[in-house]
Amino acid sequence: MSKFEALRLLREQAKLGGGIEKIELQHKAGKLTAWERIELLVDKGTFLELGRYVRHRVTEFGMGEKFAYGDGVATGLGEVNGRRVAIYSQDFTFMGGSVGEMHAQKIADLIDMAVKLGIPIIGLNDSGGARIQEGVDSLKGYGEIFYRNVMASGVVPQIVAIMGPCAGGAVYSPALADFIIMVRKTSYMFITGPKVVKAATGEDVTFEELGGAEIHASKSGVAHFIVKDDKEAIEVIKRLLSYLPSNNVEDPPYLDTSDDPFREDEALNNIVPEDPEEPFEMKEIIGILFDKGSFFEVQEHFAPNAIIGFARLAGHVVGVVANQPAYMAGVLDINSSDKISRFVSFCDSFNIPIITLVDVPGFLPGTVQEHGGVIRHGAKIIYAYASSTVPKITVIVRKAYGGAYISLGSKHLGADIVFAWPSAEIAVMGPEGAVEIIYRDEIASTPPMEREKMIRKFVDDYRKKVTTPYLAASRGYIDDVIMPSETRKILVQSLLHLLSKRERKPYPPKKHGVPPV
Ligand code: HXC
Repeated sequence: MSKFEALRLLREQAKLGGGIEKIELQHKAGKLTAWERIELLVDKGTFLELGRYVRHRVTEFGMGEKFAYGDGVATGLGEVNGRRVAIYSQDFTFMGGSVGEMHAQKIADLIDMAVKLGIPIIGLNDSGGARIQEGVDSLKGYGEIFYRNVMASGVVPQIVAIMGPCAGGAVYSPALADFIIMVRKTSYMFITGPKVVKAATGEDVTFEELGGAEIHASKSGVAHFIVKDDKEAIEVIKRLLSYLPSNNVEDPPYLDTSDDPFREDEALNNIVPEDPEEPFEMKEIIGILFDKGSFFEVQEHFAPNAIIGFARLAGHVVGVVANQPAYMAGVLDINSSDKISRFVSFCDSFNIPIITLVDVPGFLPGTVQEHGGVIRHGAKIIYAYASSTVPKITVIVRKAYGGAYISLGSKHLGADIVFAWPSAEIAVMGPEGAVEIIYRDEIASTPPMEREKMIRKFVDDYRKKVTTPYLAASRGYIDDVIMPSETRKILVQSLLHLLSKRERKPYPPKKHGVPPV
């Protein structure tokens, strides 16, 4: 056999990972192999594999004979729709994609390279966790990866798709990344599996109930996207990348969407109901304001009282933060605070302007929230907005009460331009609550039959005098009260001016603040 033939053979062998039988098992489980996933992700012929022949160095436990070229992970550089990215893809067919010293080293080296090149890191995870035979060397490997995840945070986007098991401390690498995509049924993430849970707490729980995609997308908030299979996971990665810059010194990718930037829409004038207690669908407003079909929601199923996502405005990428009055009246709580604050921080790290659409009655009252630490969670929103320097435009669509008004992109926390619709109500609290406090004595001394009428009058009066947006506008807290129908045009104008914004924080210089957690 010539040396060239030997090389060809070796390459073929490397792609077989743990062997044909294991590949069949992988397919039977509804999963693709590490290389099939990469092929789906990258533009044809662009994958440049690195460390193809890396092997582990263990000889104990019969490991001397047991190896795969690449040590259970493919790493390399490629292009996704013409954008350069760094990719690692774990190969479950070799020892369950378990992470040994060399496997980990390959991932750590790739992260280092991605940071030096200023390109996003895409992880395709499918692993039984720390390779048991490699003991502390495997733990060291994870430590090296975690360290680099932290160093890369805010420098290049990190996106991880969980396409199989992800258990134990292994979960922390994805958790340190910016976005997690989980595949329904075939993926799960947990710190300790069902058996340990049973032993420790007596609880009977399945893999799916404990850490399946559904749970993490809706309850824990660990996953940002849930998809039906590997193929859809790759599609989501591609779409997500289309909104993100390659690194923190680049701008997000502009795209000519051919949607009229100055399009006015009368429908916007009729979405907010006359009755302030009546809900409406904020996503209807989002769908009209931003370039057609451009809204890409993040964490759709987690804390649906808040909406976050990327969109385009006249082709420019923006981050959208909004309340959802159609769910729990759009109230802020622990989960929605976490959801919003992390998204604002992400947008700020990667030069993505933030547009905030406000209809918030305040923070959710009650012992569950208070004991759960709504104070420190809510504080995160303030911290994130106040410390961000990207262009920030806020539109107060309806209610903006109390601390929630301040938190959600108010001028006082550094928003550049703030608008209000005529339906806006801005005050310390809702008129009903305010009237009860201000007119307590009058109400108490009025015969019960006449009380309701009297309260209604006070409420109307309060609404006209105090909550009106023109009061806030008279102080300059709101730049203009605008017609809903002209909002897109005004947002576009504002954004185009703000794109040249330069602001440096912190002032005075500090190592870093101590954000609430
Ligand atoms: C070595 C492993 C492995 C591991 C799986 N394999 N996990 N080898 N170290 N962690 C091997 C199996 O022995 C098997 O080898 C092959 O991979 C496929 O595994 P199966 O069990 O046949 O597959 P499946 O039935 O799909 O089950 C997958 C699994 C299970 C649920 C992941 O393998 C499992 O429970 N593995 C152990 C998981 C674990 O406890 N990991 C440590 C978590 S703690 P053969 O030779 O038969 O093909 C951790 C700490 C990280 O990760 C700390 C970082 C700070």
